[in-house]
Amino acid sequence: MRRPLVAGNWKMHGSRETVTQLVQSLLQSEVVGVDRVVFPSLIHLSSVVDAVSGQFSVGAQVCASQQEFGAFTGEVAAQQLADLGCQFVLVGHSERRQLFAETDAVVAQKFMAALQAGLIPVLCLGETLAERESEQTEQVVLRQLAAVLDVGGVSAIAKSVLAYEPVWAIGTGLTATPEQAQAVHKILREALAKKDAQVAELVRIVYGGSVKAASAAELFAMPDIDGGLVGGASLNAQEFAAICRAAEQ
Ligand code: PGA
Repeated sequence: MRRPLVAGNWKMHGSRETVTQLVQSLLQSEVVGVDRVVFPSLIHLSSVVDAVSGQFSVGAQVCASQQEFGAFTGEVAAQQLADLGCQFVLVGHSERRQLFAETDAVVAQKFMAALQAGLIPVLCLGETLAERESEQTEQVVLRQLAAVLDVGGVSAIAKSVLAYEPVWAIGTGLTATPEQAQAVHKILREALAKKDAQVAELVRIVYGGSVKAASAAELFAMPDIDGGLVGGASLNAQEFAAICRAAEQ
């Protein structure tokens, strides 16, 4: 049985005041049997780690690709995130791939740096609208997965969470239908099963892309969807709590 995971990606949002308020509201909701993770901006990580005192996990939205400390101005090492109390880190989010030119190779390096530091990487995979329309979805997500498998093998994937996030559904209000999402999650799980059936069975694959309380239950009811990676809706504590409750069922 895979334990559901619901993650909130706060992206570049929030001030010290609004982040404190959001955390306080989130702490009021009780959810059983679901792992909850929040991904604040780097500068808010420390205060959020202190405030959630173990009730939630905390992750970073980025980390450096280098495994060792060094002269990399502006970067934050995975080891530094772990030292701060983070447990997770997003890698390969489509905004990083598209707006900050992170290639499959860089994503794989970041994934390995995260593992090396003892963090759980959440590997984001997904196709653009043009790729979906030209029937390249499967090819794209399998290429993105292979970039990590080639470097770390299936044992590395076993220590991670996968997030299928169709680019056309992120921040657009267009959610993939449960059937569309399930089809891709199944493709990913079958690809892993070819390498190691047990890993394929155990690894969590969450869905992201305009998840809302209203759409969460149907998505999470799908056999290969193990929770969600939530952007916009995670900035509202009530909405996020409702999404977490949908994962309980
Ligand atoms: P969204 O973002 O829920 O606002 O579409 C999801 C994500 O980018 O992880």
